[in-house]
Amino acid sequence: MRTAERLNSIGPYLFAELDSRRQQAVARGVDIINLGVGDPDRPSPEHVVRRLCREAHDPRHHRYPPYDGLAALRQALAGWYAQRFGVDLDPDAEVRVLIGSKEGLSHLCWAFVDPGDVALVPDPAYPVYRAQTLLCGGAAHPLPLKAERDFLPDLEAVPEAVRAKATIMFLNYPNNPTAATADLGFFERAVAFCRRHDLLLCHDAAYVEMTYDGCVAPSVLQVPGARDVAVETYSLSKPFNMTGWRVAFAVGNRQALQALHRVKTNTDSGQFTAVQAAGEEALRNHPREFIERMNAVYQRRRDLALEALEALGWRLPAPRGTFYVWLPVPRNYNSLSFAGMLLEKAGVLVSPGSAFGRHGEGYVRLSLTVDEDRLVEALSRMRAHVRYP
Ligand SMILES: Cc1ncc(COP(=O)(O)O)c(C=O)c1O
Repeated sequence: MRTAERLNSIGPYLFAELDSRRQQAVARGVDIINLGVGDPDRPSPEHVVRRLCREAHDPRHHRYPPYDGLAALRQALAGWYAQRFGVDLDPDAEVRVLIGSKEGLSHLCWAFVDPGDVALVPDPAYPVYRAQTLLCGGAAHPLPLKAERDFLPDLEAVPEAVRAKATIMFLNYPNNPTAATADLGFFERAVAFCRRHDLLLCHDAAYVEMTYDGCVAPSVLQVPGARDVAVETYSLSKPFNMTGWRVAFAVGNRQALQALHRVKTNTDSGQFTAVQAAGEEALRNHPREFIERMNAVYQRRRDLALEALEALGWRLPAPRGTFYVWLPVPRNYNSLSFAGMLLEKAGVLVSPGSAFGRHGEGYVRLSLTVDEDRLVEALSRMRAHVRYP
């Protein structure tokens, strides 16, 4: 048996690796506090669960789902975009239902990256943009995200020769892993850049609802004319504690969505219709209240974490988006050795920044997806072993 050559271009998936490390430690009897993965710990909204139970009994849903996704769900998303961002979307031509945004981001690569093409990919970043580009035979050109630029890429630094080969640029704000936010002015510059170089701008808005201290994160589609060059992925996973359900959307540029649709219809058959109906429920029934309630929970955890970290020597600006803390590692450590030490000595699992790209070296990512007691416990265990700088 011989596996495809393309498999050699990518490594094992980071979070699968982290999970296997966690399991090994648990098997040794260690009580692990998992701050490694960004998976909300609280349950999905009760009315969404009830709606799924009801819809699951409908035998019409037991057959293949509609290729275009459930119309009522697309309409609900369009209604939410109008209310939340002031962006009007045609639910038939400008909204696609995805089996989670990971699926949509992956298949967008298959629609836009040929062997020899270049994708512009933030570094550090959610690993999927780069991995899928490589699987398609493309090259990923890193856009470094650095603290001194507030973790926004310097688009003007992309060399002309790279721009000429690029077909797609990925962005993601509020950002995983750095927790940085971007304003509309930044998106305006990104749209202009993609227009100038005839690129698809793919904005991953997975954390767009998770902001604090009065910050309201924009959609890239709020930029006038953005839909000429941009698509945005929007996910129910994080804002509604629905990572297991696999419901997300791609919205914006029609031509890009048609291309995505062609890849998808040749690849998957869509999400279980009962799950799509439950997704509609999440968007139609008090979405804002649920989001605000969860954001208050994360904000409290963030403040607790920052206070405890300050006592250990870290003075960090409070992140205004996502549920991550992007933590510089102390002197004499790199990302991996610091994460390894925390796991071995404190039983605290964090993600090494280097796993998100070369420019993530020197950081670890803490995910605030455990309750306050466990978070306090994690930070007090760290106290015995850590001082910054
Ligand atoms: C930046 C980013 N995009 C996309 C995803 C995947 O979201 P979904 O559950 O919609 O596939 C994640 C998950 O961690 C993420 O961090």
